Amino acid sequence: MIKIEGLRKEYPNVTPLKNVTVEINRGDVISIIGPSGTGKSTLLRCLNQLEEPTAGTITVDGEVITDPSCDISLVRRKMGMVFQSFNLFANLNMIENVIAAPVALLKIPKEQAYEEGMALLRRVGLAEKAQNYPDELSGGQKQRVAIARAIAMKPEILLFDEPTSALDPTMVGEVLSVIRSLAREGMTMMIVTHEMKFARDVSNRVFYMDEGGIYEDGTPEQIFDAPLKEKTRVFIRRLKQLTLEITSMEADYVGFVSQIEEFGRKNLLSVRTLRNLQLCFEELAIQNILPNVEAGGLPINIVIEYSESTDTVSMVITYGGKKFDPFTEGDELSAGIVKKLASEWGHSFADENRIEIKFVP
Ligand SMILES: Nc1ncnc2c1ncn2[C@@H]1O[C@H](COP(=O)(O)OP(=O)(O)O)[C@@H](O)[C@H]1O
Ligand SMILES: [Mg+2]
Repeated sequence: MIKIEGLRKEYPNVTPLKNVTVEINRGDVISIIGPSGTGKSTLLRCLNQLEEPTAGTITVDGEVITDPSCDISLVRRKMGMVFQSFNLFANLNMIENVIAAPVALLKIPKEQAYEEGMALLRRVGLAEKAQNYPDELSGGQKQRVAIARAIAMKPEILLFDEPTSALDPTMVGEVLSVIRSLAREGMTMMIVTHEMKFARDVSNRVFYMDEGGIYEDGTPEQIFDAPLKEKTRVFIRRLKQLTLEITSMEADYVGFVSQIEEFGRKNLLSVRTLRNLQLCFEELAIQNILPNVEAGGLPINIVIEYSESTDTVSMVITYGGKKFDPFTEGDELSAGIVKKLASEWGHSFADENRIEIKFVP
């Protein structure tokens, strides 16, 4: 359906895409992952002609859309785009947002566009908000309308650029569920996302982008469980595992908690698991262990890991110094909270102190 050959995009100071050659088949759901700045957004923007490639060709349904004689507005119609920041028209209500482009560009009669638009709003669960304006909706609702608006143009492919990155964690699920249902209906999609669990569930292909192109292209099982190439391996390991180190008594507590939050989002942890994880980190590491280790016991190392196969999160805390068991020797209230929130917890002491706790949903 789409053939990209030798695609190159240069900016004055950086060349994010050096040489991208890949084919996209009808019905493909492709998740695009990779470190920031590796050209993920640039690739989508070259596809829908928001950016002009420096070199290379893109062919859609046999038509070379990078050819100067090609009608760009026709091409854009084939590609729906959903952005991180919703981009709804603030002065139009929801149904007007959805039907504006079909009426203006596809010349669909207003009444028919309205019927179809209402059907789309029902499909994303927002028919009752048809008359509301963007500032009256939550982020998750706005993004669902943005998706309805993109589908209203009957595109052949939908491009999503981090559709859930700007959302409050409680609203990520509703947006992902709309994208999931589109995948089930066979919509061709490319989705730049940090939601690893979602990417695994929804896509048949994953592109890991690095080094100026698609560094590794494989099934979700390959990319997430057994990547073939080194940089993919390092990236995936970091996605699944978070390492924190407390090196001084003046720990940057807020910084740690926000790193845990980001880890939770990448792994699509439930709001509850994430909160429990943050609370246990605070109660154990900050309230209980830190005041009780002697200077020689630092650093305190924390490794948080998510296991996809068992859907469990584990947190292992190790520290030096004398034997100190926070569950029996430390602050009782603090230890009690951890015992209540975690599914499993325990302390052991060999050469160093080691605590392992687990969260089973
Ligand atoms: N319009 C632009 N002008 C100059 N440089 C840009 C522009 N857009 C993106 N870049 C640069 O290109 C690189 C890739 O950007 P981008 O595609 O947004 O990466 P990603 O989406 O993977 O984080 C970055 O170094 C970014 O700073
Ligand atoms: Mg980007």
